[in-house]
Amino acid sequence: MKKLRAAVNALDRKSHINREIYGHFSEHLGRCIYNGIFVGENSSIPNTDGVRNDVIEAFKEIQMPVLRWPGGCFADEYHWRDGIGEKSTRKKMVNTHWGGVTEDNSFGTNEFFNMCEKIGCEPYLAGNLGSGTVEELADWIEYITFDGVSPMADLRRKNGREKPWKLKYLGIGNENWGCGGNMRPEAYADMYRRYQTYCRNFSGNELYKIAGGPNVDDYNWTEKLMQIIKDDHAKAISLHYYTIPSGDFANKGSATKFTDDEYYRTIHNALFTDQLIERHSAIMKQYSDNMKLIVDEWGCWFDVEEGTNPGFLFQQNTMRDALVAAISLNIFNNRSDIVCMANLAQAVNVLQALLLTEGEKLVKTPTYHIFDMYKTHQDSELLYSYVDSAEKTIRNTIKKNDFEKIEEIPLPLVSHSASLNKNGSITMTYSNASLDEDFEIDCDIVGFEAKNANARILTYGDVHQFNDFDNPERIKPAEHSVELNGNSLKLTLPKLSVVSVILS
Ligand code: AHR
Repeated sequence: MKKLRAAVNALDRKSHINREIYGHFSEHLGRCIYNGIFVGENSSIPNTDGVRNDVIEAFKEIQMPVLRWPGGCFADEYHWRDGIGEKSTRKKMVNTHWGGVTEDNSFGTNEFFNMCEKIGCEPYLAGNLGSGTVEELADWIEYITFDGVSPMADLRRKNGREKPWKLKYLGIGNENWGCGGNMRPEAYADMYRRYQTYCRNFSGNELYKIAGGPNVDDYNWTEKLMQIIKDDHAKAISLHYYTIPSGDFANKGSATKFTDDEYYRTIHNALFTDQLIERHSAIMKQYSDNMKLIVDEWGCWFDVEEGTNPGFLFQQNTMRDALVAAISLNIFNNRSDIVCMANLAQAVNVLQALLLTEGEKLVKTPTYHIFDMYKTHQDSELLYSYVDSAEKTIRNTIKKNDFEKIEEIPLPLVSHSASLNKNGSITMTYSNASLDEDFEIDCDIVGFEAKNANARILTYGDVHQFNDFDNPERIKPAEHSVELNGNSLKLTLPKLSVVSVILS
């Protein structure tokens, strides 16, 4: 077995890992909200105010820190007033983005904020800039956060909520270069400045305003946006990046049936996140020392499962997804000087979901287990960590218009990060993306006297495997034995595995 030297230095603290890096996203899309999170008060599925109890428990278990809502593309067509008050009179609308289904607005502002309170997570709103008005967004903030006497606060009281909720994270628009209005960055940036002006800090509530950032590698968008918005108008900008094996939305491929080549290209494309963060943040730093990056949509995007509504984006979740989650979270940890939040797309039944539901059944996906194994990184201090490189050569196709070139490139197989928790323990997370090679990690621990090492592993021989309703626990974390000798830690990192170690 190939040995890799590694090190973690507890004296070399890099940056704070905001717990919001472990955030999530829930859109009115397919079966994410309806028949996923929310089944309605009259459902026979155990629920609290219509929200499934097992979903709330699962979210609490991974210490979900923040949840983004109501979209996505849906956000720029959402009119919040349609989703408040007596349910039977709520306006129905067509969800034009996602399957053309009727949206009955039975899950709205009160339901979302009450649910976040139960989960214990921060709500993150995506406001409607594309088809809404400045007044509508300003009123929404007043409805949610104002404690005094005002038309919106009174309306909230009439709807059964006396005290305001807290709202920190406010995104203004979503993908305004695309589904959120097909705007030029200059036009969006000016609109952003105007909309955010009227989003007030009421009753001690402090908004953290987020401007809609680039799609993938649209560096021009970042440049123009940063020139115009300035950091007195926004605390952060967003970035959206989905991992697709071919890199091409028109040719995504199956979630469960894929070749080794497609698998490695998926890993390669997940690793590209690091380069995106590097380049966007380099542009941002030319204009601001303070502004942060929020990767508020990330994850694998494959073809929908056969026989399901193409507009519902329902896909299975295999060990490949687990590897992508592990690699991405290590990248976000290691970039926590600039990345202050990230939101996996999406929480339930959509894209790289944490949970899948069918009637009263619920399955935790391999991706869910990665969030569980990594949760002790939340609110920790990133530490210097090192692992010898282990690479595989893969073939990559570069396509630009009529130009096509196949090149051989090295693919890093092992990803890692380490952090020091408030309670004085160290979390180390490693992933091995190789389909055939095991590694032995021999790690020096500097500046920390570890007495105990507890490790867990997520692994499965077949990369195509997943948890389903007949086998909900096929893939789940197990204890992993490691050897701690003074300041040296030895562990095996089998092929296709993710390992988390807690040193205390
Ligand atoms: O997550 C699905 C969709 O992907 C979101 O609605 C949109 O923002 C993105 O294009």
